[in-house]
Amino acid sequence: MATINNNYLKLKAGYLFPEIARRVNTFAEAHPEAKIIKLGIGDVTEPLPAACRQAIIKAVEEMGDRSTFKGYGPEQGYAWLREKIATQDFQARGCDIDASEIFISDGSKCDSGNILDIFGHDNTIAVTDPVYPVYVDTNVMAGNTGDVNEKGEYEGLVYLPITAENNFTAELPTQKVDLIYLCFPNNPTGATATKEYLKTWVDYAKANDAIILFDAAYEAFITDASLPHSIYEIEGARECAMEFRSFSKKAGFTGTRCALTVIPKTLKGKAADGSDVELWKLWNRRHCTKFNGVSYIVQRGAEAVYSDEGKAQVKALIEFYLENAKIICSQLQAAGLTIYGGVNAPYVWVQTPTGLSSWDFFDKLLQNCNVVGTPGSGFGAAGEGYFRISAFNSRENVNEAMKRITEKFTV
Ligand code: MLT
Repeated sequence: MATINNNYLKLKAGYLFPEIARRVNTFAEAHPEAKIIKLGIGDVTEPLPAACRQAIIKAVEEMGDRSTFKGYGPEQGYAWLREKIATQDFQARGCDIDASEIFISDGSKCDSGNILDIFGHDNTIAVTDPVYPVYVDTNVMAGNTGDVNEKGEYEGLVYLPITAENNFTAELPTQKVDLIYLCFPNNPTGATATKEYLKTWVDYAKANDAIILFDAAYEAFITDASLPHSIYEIEGARECAMEFRSFSKKAGFTGTRCALTVIPKTLKGKAADGSDVELWKLWNRRHCTKFNGVSYIVQRGAEAVYSDEGKAQVKALIEFYLENAKIICSQLQAAGLTIYGGVNAPYVWVQTPTGLSSWDFFDKLLQNCNVVGTPGSGFGAAGEGYFRISAFNSRENVNEAMKRITEKFTV
């Protein structure tokens, strides 16, 4: 009989969001009359911007005509999309990123997991706690950790707590680590990072020959002009950081699938013989071997984000979700709850009322209000006592959910 990757057996019961879906389905089956409002998984609800839809329709028509039909595209993505990203998302902000350093993919979740293919198994890896669970689970799958303890922490990972005490910004590790996952605006806490804060990480990474895996999937939600959108706004980041970005939350592509990873050609890792190797080359090799690129149709849709109409429509979409976040913040505060985030981010991080664990709050909210959120402990041990509410939903649903919570949870 074929043997299995035993590392999978170390994983906690289920990935967080399927576990939430399981509990919600059980509740829905028992209460078919309940009108459940989902503010759990950060999945967008508003339609694709018109500019993207029109570009997609045009691309479909091209695929129906022999003279404009496309077969395999470049694995790394079409040059016209990579160029627009390089100039408008990076160079316009003073980031020295070239189109050839951008790899188009089908998701940041996939990329942030798949990236482990190009790293050794002897790295010391730091994650924040709470954290986007994909960073942890993919390291478990890759065999980069030991077993999980009763708190849900995996042996071998360095956990950096992010709490109200440190303003949800992790302190630098007291030991030397090799890989560091950072996510800003943060999932799940909604916290943001200043340039000064990110500089402390770039300085740490350079001093320790470490690499920062910077997840900027929510950068489009930054409205405060002083906050950086990219790690490359920090001098020296080309030598110590890669960045993940996505069209999912920015332009409603969660179901359409398009994202990108930036690996500067100046970013290097160490080979067993002690030589320095460009990570760009390894990722390019991996991408060309295991991936055939995002469809032409979808890339044309993503390109439309950079047109004048696309930019205006994306801005309106972001403003819509940020207004939802504002409503959530003000209503929960009015209900006496302590909240964080939700300003330059689509997530509101709620402190659960005294005596209620994250999952207690989840169950209470589901049973009493028929509202679904995400228990903070699902993101890590330090997330216990917190709860994440997502601003991704219709205005009607957000207003109704807040009305129900306000009525049931006045403390
Ligand atoms: C979340 O809710 O944390 C996100 O939707 C997960 C993701 O983007 O994969």
